[in-house]
Amino acid sequence: ASRNLFLLPGDGIGPEAMAEVRKLIAYMNEHHGAGFQTDEGLVGGAAYDAHGAAISDADMAKAMACDAVLFGAVGGPKWDAVPYDVRPEAGLLRLRKDMELFANLRPAICYPALAASSSLKPEVVEGLDILIVRELTGGVYFGEPKTITDLGNGQKRAVDTQVYDTYEIERISAVAFELARTRRNEVCSMEKRNVMKSGVLWNEVVTATQKARFPDVKLSHMLADAGGMQLVRWPKQFDVIVTDNLFGDMLSDVAAMLTGSLGMLPSASLGAPDGKTGKRKALYEPVHGSAPDIAGKGIANPIAMIASFAMCMRYSFNMVAEADRLEAAIATTLDKGLRTGDIMSEGCTEVSTGEMGDAIMKA
Ligand code: NAI
Ligand code: MG
Repeated sequence: ASRNLFLLPGDGIGPEAMAEVRKLIAYMNEHHGAGFQTDEGLVGGAAYDAHGAAISDADMAKAMACDAVLFGAVGGPKWDAVPYDVRPEAGLLRLRKDMELFANLRPAICYPALAASSSLKPEVVEGLDILIVRELTGGVYFGEPKTITDLGNGQKRAVDTQVYDTYEIERISAVAFELARTRRNEVCSMEKRNVMKSGVLWNEVVTATQKARFPDVKLSHMLADAGGMQLVRWPKQFDVIVTDNLFGDMLSDVAAMLTGSLGMLPSASLGAPDGKTGKRKALYEPVHGSAPDIAGKGIANPIAMIASFAMCMRYSFNMVAEADRLEAAIATTLDKGLRTGDIMSEGCTEVSTGEMGDAIMKA
């Protein structure tokens, strides 16, 4: 079976990191008969320069038709003044919207070699492997009404609205439970049912979904603020965390910093399973942006992008052994003391983007 990947390298360090993944794709095809077919498009500033849009309709159609999108990063000072609806970020927003990518997966894995450089005590993060599943297309970032009104007495009123329907909570919790089954089989759901109606419904629907469809998965609940504390106090108590858009935005950034630098963090965004094939639409991308301050120097850390490709193999193609091996290769390479500038520490060897990619491939 062919496996269709659509590559959108984007701007800044996006193409530099993607080049390392392209090497890995070629390697997997040649030595493991992986059968990856790749096509490539433009997104962000690169697409704006070429077509005057943050992603062209033709590339959008390819993203919709492929098995998985690999996305680099978009943006940069060059496009600071372009109109709002064609700014580089609009490309990513359109992909998320048109592909209905409602589930954002943010793993926080601590590579042993980097445990000592965490902002927490090494024993708190050593061996850490948690997965935050954030609802990405609903909640207070999108709910209506969303307004600023002049009250006429020198005061203004800003309104954002948190809205969640049953189906939205059901589908995000189903993703969390499914993923838990491939891990340690535990889900912790976080909301604020003590002060928010959406938290009450969230709790109710997650509980019902577990009962009806995932009785084998262990479910617990935590208020989201307490969850934030627990994430920093003893993160290893968690396996999968499922939460809404707003809390997930914050909690996933907190979890990210337990384990290291932006240059290390992968992510995935998944849509609903296709009615016929059961396959989910999917986009894989590093958490970091286009890093204009280091772009073009060949010093960017490619690990976030490479680890995103590992997630792609794991979640879009069920290539579990291959994903495990790629992640192990990242750990081995770090164990050898190879570091890009952003994660450099004493006694280690500083390498370029390409050298890091080659070392991981060799491992
Ligand atoms: P950024 O993530 O691009 O960079 C923040 C800092 O981390 C910089 O000092 C950068 O050099 C460093 N850094 C990031 N990734 C790195 C890597 N792989 N290796 C080594 N160092 C790395 O965030 P920033 O500076 O806030 O935004 C820069 C541009 O990227 C902006 O135009 C922003 O809108 C865009 N952006 C795009 C995102 C995306 O495409 N998903 C996400 C975040 C920002
Ligand atoms: Mg955030």
